[in-house]
Formats: sequence, structure tokens, C-alpha cells
Amino acid sequence: MDTWDAIRARRNVRQFTDRPVGRDHLEQILEAGRRSPSSRNWQPWDFVVVTERERLAELAKVWMGAGHVARSSATIALVIRHYDGPPERDWAQYDLGQATMAMMLAATNLGIGTAHAAVADQDMARSLLGFPDDHECAYLMALGYPADRPLTPVLHPTRRDFDDVVHWDRW
Ligand SMILES: Cc1cc2nc3c(=O)[nH]c(=O)nc-3n(C[C@H](O)[C@H](O)[C@H](O)COP(=O)(O)O)c2cc1C
Repeated sequence: MDTWDAIRARRNVRQFTDRPVGRDHLEQILEAGRRSPSSRNWQPWDFVVVTERERLAELAKVWMGAGHVARSSATIALVIRHYDGPPERDWAQYDLGQATMAMMLAATNLGIGTAHAAVADQDMARSLLGFPDDHECAYLMALGYPADRPLTPVLHPTRRDFDDVVHWDRW
């Protein structure tokens, strides 16, 4: 899949087949995250990869909107140090967004679906994933082969109109 097709084909996939995502593909997706740009190249992230079925089921309980994690073949937990406020917290969140999108596009390129999930219960996430006390799990990214339909470019995305979003030269 070329880059333009991957950008248009990525969507949140929350229903997955039983087909496992191979270690080589997982490593390629993680490498896309590792290579992402970050403020002053500080690389504030750690990625915890969960593939055990029982641990995925438990991890899905960290947020009411994370049920798809239980059905995923693997889930990547995006972990950062806990910052009390700006500017570090803002930088880390921005950088995580870039790493997330890089990994989602790398996955899409391989025909693998991805879905975000927020994390509400940090204590539960920490006890399941084992990250240090001064860190937090910012988001989860569930992965798996789509059970609904293959990843092909979305023709009519549910997005604001181009002219509403884009301002040329001046707002
Ligand atoms: C920061 C962020 C947090 C999100 N959290 C969740 C979540 O907790 N659960 C979920 O099902 N989807 C979550 N999503 C997915 C969005 O709902 C989804 O990206 C948006 O509706 C656009 O749909 P699409 O990704 O299929 O294009 C999140 C997305 C982002 C960027």
C-alpha cells in the first residue's frame, strides 16, 4: 500500500479476527514509533506490548471505552513519565500523537487494523503493565486484522469540510 492509500485507509478498527499479528509485523510497527520525531529528540515514550489473551482482557477494563482491547491480537501501551503540567506534558502528548499515527500508518500498510483507547484507571494499568510509579499510561493502541472489512481508502470520511478546516494565507 502506498503512503497516500494508507493515510486514507486508516480508521479505527474495533472488531478483529483471531489471526495473530506476527512478531515481525509488530516489530515493524514499533520501529515506526521509535523513529518518530519528538521535541529536541527527547523521545519521551516507552511502548509496552501485550499479547497474552488474559492480560488483554484485564487491560480492557482500564477505561469504559477500551473494550476492543480485549478482542485485539496485541495492544501497545504508550507510556510516558508523569508531568504535572506544561510545557513538558504538552510536548509529551504532542510527541505521542506523532508516534501513534506513525505506528497506525505502518500497521495499515500491513493490512493490520488499529484502534485508540484512553486510560482512566492508572493504578490498574500500572499493576498489569509494571511501569514505574513516576510514569503513566497515556493511551492504548489495539491491533489486529479487521473482522468487519479490509483496510481500503475511505471514500467519504466523517470529517469537517476541507474549506471549513483549511485557511489559505490568513484565517
Ligand atoms: C486522543 C484519542 C483518544 C481516543 N480514545 C478512544 C477510546 O478511548 N475509545 C475508542 O473506542 N476510540 C477512541 N478514539 C478514536 C476516535 O474516536 C476516532 O479516531 C475518531 O472517531 C475518528 O474515527 P477514525 O479513527 O475511524 O477515523 C480516540 C482517538 C484519539 C485521537
